[in-house]
Amino acid sequence: MLQVDHVNAHYGKLQVLHDVSLTIQSGERVGIFGHNGAGKTTLLKSLVGDMPQLEGKIRYQEHPIVAGQVHLNVRHGIGFVPQGHNVFRELSVEQNLRIAGLMHDPAYAETVFGIFPILKERHLQLAGSLSGGQQQMLALGMALMTRPHLLLLDEPTTGLAPIIVRDVLASIRAINQNEGTTVLIVEQNVQATLKQVERAIVLKSGRVIFDGPSQQLLEEKSLWHLF
Ligand SMILES: Nc1ncnc2c1ncn2[C@@H]1O[C@H](COP(=O)(O)OP(=O)(O)OP(=O)(O)O)[C@@H](O)[C@H]1O
Ligand SMILES: [Mg+2]
Repeated sequence: MLQVDHVNAHYGKLQVLHDVSLTIQSGERVGIFGHNGAGKTTLLKSLVGDMPQLEGKIRYQEHPIVAGQVHLNVRHGIGFVPQGHNVFRELSVEQNLRIAGLMHDPAYAETVFGIFPILKERHLQLAGSLSGGQQQMLALGMALMTRPHLLLLDEPTTGLAPIIVRDVLASIRAINQNEGTTVLIVEQNVQATLKQVERAIVLKSGRVIFDGPSQQLLEEKSLWHLF
């Protein structure tokens, strides 16, 4: 579904990704890990074409990802939830969902409410007054409203209490299993995430230094210094 071939990415003179190659199959749940500054966000940005200075090739289904053309690339069914809370704070929960689904099917909000019942309960509440975890769920729900085939999530559980982290990660797994959405998730909550993904990719200084079953990473404690 997604093919990344020998990608180098730069910010000005600073090269952040070095010869990154990977393939993601349709329906996979993949975690991306690595230290702060390893290039995780840059990799996700590259996948939607948000890194203008890119060498190498990225293909999504039959489409080449064109650097600098995010609005066109995402039309092919890529949902991207960037780092940080991404909701319209002055609008209600339901308005946020409906705006996100404007180009698609606003009625799909009912399905999203089924996945995150707390959003249904709070559908009239202003998004800015939701708790951090609820805002993360709403941001995820908004991405789902675009009916993506591939969902890119950049640290969706940052700042959440451990029990909420588990809830959000379990919801992401449920989205993958029930909707068939392919999920690529960048996470600092490595242990909790490894239990919910099938495959792990570890970046170090912009290079892929591990790509294999998440179980292998869970078992091989000698690899844990990598993140
Ligand atoms: N817009 C930018 N301009 C210049 N340098 C940048 C820019 N964005 C990121 N960088 C640099 O690129 C490197 C990789 O950053 P990136 O955001 O991809 O890391 P990350 O793995 O997502 O880190 P974190 O875990 O802290 O989110 C870092 O050294 C960072 O300082
Ligand atoms: Mg990041």
